[in-house]
Amino acid sequence: MRFATLFVGALAPIAGYAAPTELAARENLCSLKSPPALCKPDPTVTVEETALRAYKFYRAFVVDGDPRTMFSLMDSSYIQHHAGYASGPGAIWSLFCNGNKIGSEKSTAWCFDAATNMSYAQYSTTDRWRWVDGCVHEHWDQNERIPKDKCYKLPTTTP
Ligand SMILES: *[C@@H]1O[C@H](CO)[C@@H](O)[C@H](O)[C@H]1NC(C)=O
Repeated sequence: MRFATLFVGALAPIAGYAAPTELAARENLCSLKSPPALCKPDPTVTVEETALRAYKFYRAFVVDGDPRTMFSLMDSSYIQHHAGYASGPGAIWSLFCNGNKIGSEKSTAWCFDAATNMSYAQYSTTDRWRWVDGCVHEHWDQNERIPKDKCYKLPTTTP
């Protein structure tokens, strides 16, 4: 029922979020008019925790198609630099609420640069987000490039 809906058309109008070739819906929350929960800014969040959250955000947005987790990492400002879209998480909720996946970890990339508090997701385009107090606060998607030599290395539990 709620997992059955594929709504490819929702992604097409946005240059920054080009339509993926393979889609699967995970959790469709489009019955909700706005995100169920946002990120509460917390100045005590460490750089390490921010890096981990940046990875979780990339997973939720690109790989898992998990709108609940994705928006739980965005603050209420979400300052938008994509022309034609207003700031605020609510302005893009309808584009992501259906839980579409964009690509696998193999076919995409992510990065968190601790020196700038910017995270990146690379798929058919490259997005950049600024993190403030543990939350995604601002977004760009024009001519972005992952700073490959500056990406934070998350601790791993597997060899
Ligand atoms: C990045 O965020 C940390 C807190 O996580 C802060 O102490 C630091 O000043 C920020 N750096 C920049 C360049 O904004």
